[in-house]
Amino acid sequence: MRYLITSALPYINGIKHLGNLVGSMLPADVYARFLRQEGETVLYICATDEHGTPAELAAAEAGLEVADYCERQHKLQADIYSRFGLSFDHFGRTSSKYHHELTQHFYQRLDENGFIEEREISQMYSIDEQRFLPDRYVVGACPKCGYESARGDQCENCTSVLNPTDLLNPRSAISGSTNLEIRQSRHLFLKLDALSDQVRAWVEQQDEWPALTKSIAMKWLNEGLQSRGITRDLIWGVPVPRPGFEHKVFYVWFDAPIGYLSATRAWAVETAGVEDQDWKDWWYAPEAVRYTQFMAKDNLPFHTIMWPATILGARDPWKMANYIKGFNWLNYYGGKFSTSAKRGVFLDQALQILPADYWRYALMASAPESSDSAFTWEQFQTKVNKELADNLGNFVNRILKFAASRFDATVPPGGTPGEAEDRLQESCQASLNTLHMTLHNLEFRKATEALCGLWTIGNQYIDERAPWALFKQNREEAALVIRTCINLIRIYAIAASPFIPFTSQILFDALNLSELERTSCLKATVDFTVLSSGRPFKVPPPLFQKLDDAYIAELKAQFGGGE
Ligand code: MF3
Ligand code: ZN
Repeated sequence: MRYLITSALPYINGIKHLGNLVGSMLPADVYARFLRQEGETVLYICATDEHGTPAELAAAEAGLEVADYCERQHKLQADIYSRFGLSFDHFGRTSSKYHHELTQHFYQRLDENGFIEEREISQMYSIDEQRFLPDRYVVGACPKCGYESARGDQCENCTSVLNPTDLLNPRSAISGSTNLEIRQSRHLFLKLDALSDQVRAWVEQQDEWPALTKSIAMKWLNEGLQSRGITRDLIWGVPVPRPGFEHKVFYVWFDAPIGYLSATRAWAVETAGVEDQDWKDWWYAPEAVRYTQFMAKDNLPFHTIMWPATILGARDPWKMANYIKGFNWLNYYGGKFSTSAKRGVFLDQALQILPADYWRYALMASAPESSDSAFTWEQFQTKVNKELADNLGNFVNRILKFAASRFDATVPPGGTPGEAEDRLQESCQASLNTLHMTLHNLEFRKATEALCGLWTIGNQYIDERAPWALFKQNREEAALVIRTCINLIRIYAIAASPFIPFTSQILFDALNLSELERTSCLKATVDFTVLSSGRPFKVPPPLFQKLDDAYIAELKAQFGGGE
């Protein structure tokens, strides 16, 4: 079995916030790291989603050509994700030539199979700008709630899905012009209604899917699928290879999921060097590939209905998801994180405040899995201080410092393990089994709890064995405890590495572990004899800094927490 993993492709415009990270890329990364550690073959693919009106509008706002804007933003995002330790095998772009080719290929297959139709539709046209204004190019008042700055595709206030022609007092989002009229334009539609039965059969077959995923898919199917426009009157995007459509491109949600495949092709070309064979090995009728997708819940309809319909209609054996992990919202206190309202913590800011592992751990600990959850600075403080700094950091620091001063910075010999060590072994094994099982089942909160529980076990052991006092009475016994704890630190580093890889790296280096000693299946890792007597180690600087109340108050003031 090989494992294919994708996380929803982030829109090119703007730096993402903590809510975006926890809802797709971070859990996918934890899962990918876990599987690699287990010795599995893994391919983890992501890319920037570069088309659509948000990209064009943001480029216009930045005073750049769209292509230049996207290039710049792609680099910026790639850099931030690498600093967060996201271990993509490839972070591609939907503006690549492979992506254009594959998107046109999908369209051609759908057309050949009779799932594309042309329709004449009413579109907003700006007389002054001499162009159509699709989707977000039009703003106006929401016909449902009256909100003044609703966008042509959706009202941010009441979340109604809209058409640009629904808006009251419409104006151009670029020029503000109200000199608009409705004109007719020919567009292509994907006949989702004709694919509905096939999609339903596929969805019904998925008995492993989490409840959230399945219920959203069934709701859409039961409401009845209708043809959906897959082209737009825009310049930036994948051109439509059809006479009469020279000035149109595919709609961003038609091409975006194809990015999973095209980015894999780019990976094969750039990294592996063997084109067609390699990427198709993962996507085209692959034998024994398990494919898991990660995304926030607003993306579920596209991945459970629209994208599967595209694949089924193309009638080629492209790999479809085995498992779709959807996340609820991570709120910022009571309200939403919002890119447009700049509310909440953005990823570049987060890394200026603290290193990636603080965020990775705290976010996974409060992942919005079974319901929406909230990021608060207070909770962040608790996670960092109690779990990372006290439970893990202090343990490592106390043990290694003591061992360095009393045993000459080498693992001491010590006597034979006794009853306390047997019990330690047993409870560690139980925690690691839980960690393994929960990660395997993609239950990230529970997995984080199991990890923290493992750290607690070590603290209980040293409370019981008190090596500091023991050293004065029975040096050999104290040496046994310390040797056991140093081995425990290795186990901690391995168990924690999917979550806090930078910290694990520090620990691996401090313990001078060989490549082989750094990787181990979780379940087989409880072994207190790997680091034997005489092995040298170093004492790393404190792993985590505590966040005091004054600092938290400062952060709250800076980011507007609570209001
Ligand atoms: N860009 C979309 C978002 O951020 C997600 C696209 S996922 C894809 O919501 F598969 F369609 F690419
Ligand atoms: Zn509204």
